[in-house]
Amino acid sequence: MRVLVTGGAGYIGSHTLLELLAQGHEVCVLDNYANAAPDVLDRVRALSNRPLRDETGDVRDRSRLDKIMDDFAPEAVIHFAGLKAVGESGTNPLGYYDVNINGTLTLLQAMQRADCKRIIFSSSATVYGEPQYLPYDEAHPLNPMSVYGRTKLMAEQILTDWAAAQPDRATVLLRYFNPVGAHPSADLGEDPRDTPNNLMPLIAQVATGKREALQVYGDDYDTPDGTGLRDYIHVVDLARAHLAALSYAATQSGARPFNIGTGQNYSVREMVQAFEKASGRKIPTINSPRRDGDVAAMQADARRANRELGWQATHGLDDMAASTWAWQTKNHNG
Ligand SMILES: NC(=O)c1ccc[n+]([C@@H]2O[C@H](COP(=O)([O-])OP(=O)(O)OC[C@H]3O[C@@H](n4cnc5c(N)ncnc54)[C@H](O)[C@@H]3O)[C@@H](O)[C@H]2O)c1
Repeated sequence: MRVLVTGGAGYIGSHTLLELLAQGHEVCVLDNYANAAPDVLDRVRALSNRPLRDETGDVRDRSRLDKIMDDFAPEAVIHFAGLKAVGESGTNPLGYYDVNINGTLTLLQAMQRADCKRIIFSSSATVYGEPQYLPYDEAHPLNPMSVYGRTKLMAEQILTDWAAAQPDRATVLLRYFNPVGAHPSADLGEDPRDTPNNLMPLIAQVATGKREALQVYGDDYDTPDGTGLRDYIHVVDLARAHLAALSYAATQSGARPFNIGTGQNYSVREMVQAFEKASGRKIPTINSPRRDGDVAAMQADARRANRELGWQATHGLDDMAASTWAWQTKNHNG
């Protein structure tokens, strides 16, 4: 299939490119490199040994998108491009609405003009908000607690309405839990531009000595060790979920959300221990107050994805920590 991948040079996008190329799909990437290294696609080409088209541009640039649609004629789009820092979204809401909402609208308009009918969207477990029950299933109420989460929910609604307007359109909404880990080659991984937003890259930076200690936000939650519990998903498993979603979209119509997680959760302390084991280094921690908007625990009920997409996570915690450490040491002067 010809697949346009927006944001394909990013963390999850780059891993997904490898899976797409390995399965023989023809791929074109659109990325503005707002949060990606310029050489990522060269690494993907070297690892896959397959041709890959790429365009440097913004997903809000309609004329650029029209040209890509005319030249490449994608049969499906995977839409990763977006801004993803929860904290920053509160201080720059218009920037987040512009990229995440306008970007999605512009993309859909260009798809509609080109008669491209299938889209896989990077949504997030943040659409659920404070858990009414756990694990979250896809029927859980949607009540995001941040601007970022609201942009994801609004984009889901736009994509759902777009799919409903014609009987042969398909939208797959993948609600990612907490992506971690890196490619086994250690040539692809999470490469945050500034201060990392996620736990694993922060732990990795402490292990390499870039940071003195890990701030643990909240050690008095109602959890076994007092720290927050999250459902971490290995990025290679997550990448494979997009391939499963693409096959699903080829035969289904309408819009359907899927949780993409392991169904297990680990505490901050368990993540630190796993990383200490993988790196052989001590990770000093400092207890800090809880952060606004953080919940005690999150966990996916991923059975719908298992059942309907035929997808299942296969990588465990040790692999998540070991691959992150291998990537960090190979690429960041560990
Ligand atoms: N990583 C996570 O924790 C997580 C969790 C849930 C959902 N998501 C969503 O998954 C998607 C991918 O996340 P990621 O972790 O790979 O992030 P990332 O920042 O590594 O990748 C996003 C990519 O989009 C590009 N981009 C940003 N704005 C753009 C624009 N206006 N036009 C074109 N390209 C643009 C960036 O340069 C980057 O390559 C995002 O939509 C994110 O919100 C991520």
